[in-house]
Amino acid sequence: TEQELDEIYTFAVQLGKDAGKMLLEAAQLRFTGTQTADLEVEEKDSSVDIVTKTDEDVEAFIKSSIEAKYPHHKFIGEETYSKGASRSYLVSETTPSWCVDPLDGTVNYTHLFPMFCVSIGFIVAGRPTIGVVYAPFLNQLFTSCRGRGAWLNETQRLPLIRNPIPPMPADAPSGCVFSCEWGKDRKDRPDGNLYRKVESFVNMAAEVGGRGGKGGMVHGIRSLGSATMDLAYTAMGAFDIWWEGGCWEWDVAAGVAILQEAGGLVTSANPPKDIETAEIQEVKLGSRLYLAIRPAGPSKTETGREGQ
Ligand code: IPD
Repeated sequence: TEQELDEIYTFAVQLGKDAGKMLLEAAQLRFTGTQTADLEVEEKDSSVDIVTKTDEDVEAFIKSSIEAKYPHHKFIGEETYSKGASRSYLVSETTPSWCVDPLDGTVNYTHLFPMFCVSIGFIVAGRPTIGVVYAPFLNQLFTSCRGRGAWLNETQRLPLIRNPIPPMPADAPSGCVFSCEWGKDRKDRPDGNLYRKVESFVNMAAEVGGRGGKGGMVHGIRSLGSATMDLAYTAMGAFDIWWEGGCWEWDVAAGVAILQEAGGLVTSANPPKDIETAEIQEVKLGSRLYLAIRPAGPSKTETGREGQ
């Protein structure tokens, strides 16, 4: 019911704040060097796929809080699932599920690059319904609940940037800021998927590339190192487009909820070809490929401007 959803939302937001506080405290200890145990970094699938004690402690806290309050819900957490469980399609279509990354941007965290956050998604019938993303070092809390809007720090409604943008997808990517993640799979070769995607972005930004002559080039290409922050920044309007191949559900569940509620689109399309076609389907969690497009600004008549 609506009331139950409200209660779960309130609970999820408080959980995100508490978990974010744990992340901040751990980061402070880590970088003042008073707690050496927490400096340990363990490798998972490869030397760039890492986990710290903080990931595990924060996930244990979130998992036990959810299990105490909602024992019948399913819990999916990055650290719980990476220990040998099947990593195929994890989100239940029938049981309400929590999809949690206790520390998204672990590499950033270990390098004190401030783009790291706790990411809590709540899924109903396979649809991301509540999203809480809290980046404590930046003091940015993104929250959303289906039908109740998406918010920054609980007061500013997303998207923040409402300038008219070229109608998506037809005129993209002129004047856009793209975000593109490198992921963790470094087995790729120059003719492989990752390289081709990044190259296509670079081409769109280059004067001689792709569509440079057709009204402008990509303004910039960014890579935050946190998939969920990429989605939150796309919801904010800071990014126009984000793409990554190879994400897991916990990397994106909360961010997808926030972006969709802000009016953006998430699909499992392939750039750049699919950005130019109208055939864009809403993504289903469990896809490994994500392309996010920011919420559109108001129409020309609303702004009195002639577009860009
Ligand atoms: C990773 C980050 C990174 C993305 C990877 C994720 P983690 O999550 O979101 O930006 O490229 O696909 O796995 O390991 O820091 O929680």
